[in-house]
Amino acid sequence: MRTLASAIFHVIFIVSMVVGCKTDKTADTTENSEGAQWWKEEIIYQLYPRSFQDSDGDGVGDLKGIISRLDYLQSLGITAVWLNPIYSSPNDDNGYDVSDYRNIMKDFGTMDDFDQLLKGLHDRNIKLIMDLVVNHSSDEHEWFKQSRSSRENPYRNYYHWWNAERGKPPYRYSLFDVNHDAWMYDSLTNAYYLHYFSRKQPDLNWENPKLREEVYDIMKFWAEKGIDGFRLDAFQFAAKDTSYPAFPEGYEKNFTKYYAMQGNLHGYLKEMNEKVFSKYKVLSVAEGAGNSFEDAHQLVDADRKELHMAYAFEGVDIAKPEGYSLLVFKEVFSRWDSAFAEKGWLSIFLGNHDQARMVSRFGNDDPAYRSASTSMLNTFIMTMRGTPYIYNGDELGMTNAGFTSIHEFRDVQTLNEYKRLQLTKGDLAAYLKKIQASSRDNGRTPFQWDNSKNAGFTTGTPWIKVNENHVDINVALQEKDPNSCLNYFKKLVQLRKDHIASLVYGKYTLLDKNNPDIYAYTRESDREKLLIVLNFSKETKSLNPGFGLQKAQILLSNLSTNPVITNETIQLAPYQAVIYKL
Ligand code: NOJ
Repeated sequence: MRTLASAIFHVIFIVSMVVGCKTDKTADTTENSEGAQWWKEEIIYQLYPRSFQDSDGDGVGDLKGIISRLDYLQSLGITAVWLNPIYSSPNDDNGYDVSDYRNIMKDFGTMDDFDQLLKGLHDRNIKLIMDLVVNHSSDEHEWFKQSRSSRENPYRNYYHWWNAERGKPPYRYSLFDVNHDAWMYDSLTNAYYLHYFSRKQPDLNWENPKLREEVYDIMKFWAEKGIDGFRLDAFQFAAKDTSYPAFPEGYEKNFTKYYAMQGNLHGYLKEMNEKVFSKYKVLSVAEGAGNSFEDAHQLVDADRKELHMAYAFEGVDIAKPEGYSLLVFKEVFSRWDSAFAEKGWLSIFLGNHDQARMVSRFGNDDPAYRSASTSMLNTFIMTMRGTPYIYNGDELGMTNAGFTSIHEFRDVQTLNEYKRLQLTKGDLAAYLKKIQASSRDNGRTPFQWDNSKNAGFTTGTPWIKVNENHVDINVALQEKDPNSCLNYFKKLVQLRKDHIASLVYGKYTLLDKNNPDIYAYTRESDREKLLIVLNFSKETKSLNPGFGLQKAQILLSNLSTNPVITNETIQLAPYQAVIYKL
């Protein structure tokens, strides 16, 4: 019997090797000592439910709306959806203030809708990653209601309290508070509670084992439903030194250094891994990766048994309202790649719901260049090592909102900062200019399905204004146009799936490092070598990759005309992106 089993095994092995050689679809694990894993091969589409599709005319996106668009998601070819929070919430921060972790927000629908959504995704081979918001809850969560009711309440230690008779607590910076003060006085028990985000988002006390058990139970509840992963919101801030030492003056300019990766954070992650992640087939990614490569490695190296992949911000933080330098961009992404070439794993992204739109920040949203530059940026995301994340609308080249009045903004952070400036007599005009370029609301306007009044998002009044350019940028138009950035995006997704060994796992080598306009690199497995050339400029630019291109074959190009190659020099049109097989 043993010999027969081993003979069968050998036949299967040889057949799979032969098939692998032909297609390059199978992973070659030699490039990364931690090996091939399903979660490295995912192509993740981030979906902002509030703005995706409204089904009942109340102006707010909902789960039934998403269900009605499942075929669209499938048509993209993406393999997983990361859904921003959909739990019960008073919506101070669009769902990042959870009042019941086991229920669905009323605006979004019911648990039946959720079950149907999950099934619909799974029927289409799309995984579902949920946002887990457990650095803080809503102040309307039952735990907090109990906690604030008396100092003796069993839930008191679910949150961070400082009794007022001790005097004022050491200053803590709040990212969203009107006064930037993270301690909020509550007269009911004459004490302050801690909130790194808004006043309605009190921080949970991870140092309390009971709280941790509650969170693991919540995670198991969703894992048992069959979801496929968790994105841990703001989790790098979860552990705290509860003696609340004073931080140096001005620390808030670099608050991550004081807030991230503190205390026993890794102990909690190891515990979470043991109690939850290790028991289910779920992907895990934390928002933020600390302050250094070492921090990031400690989160994700396989032997640490904590999380799967880092989601680091240095790359996305490069673009400022006044622009950015491609040389810096190349340096940052290359440095991160090399730091994770052997161990650990990264997320690759250029946009999300906390950022202005990708094309407005990193590309060129002028109608003449919008489509090409969007496709060029998506080529970058889909050809780098790491798990790619595409934010909804970036497949279409959706742009910044174009708001001109503060009344058009909805985001708690944007609005509280405006109020703060009003109170302190700050420069409101300068602030308005700044948020036009950088407010998170730029990435939150309704998804543009067609050119009808509200872009096909709602029949009611949208919770946030639809971008006027929906008449030109929308799914209906782009589906019909074979050269649209939507159709190009679908080809990119397919290409990544067809070249897993090189594009997911293969070695990355930067070329022509000092070229200020073109980003060029190779991705290489032991079966093939691909060359990716991206013109980040609105002018024609050229590149000498440093090797002959006689045999180079174009696998994909975002423009209908192919680049001219003379000798060893490639000339690229504005925002041209080409993937060659060498
Ligand atoms: C990060 C989330 O991405 C953001 O949208 C939210 O406001 C904060 N965490 C607080 O939960």
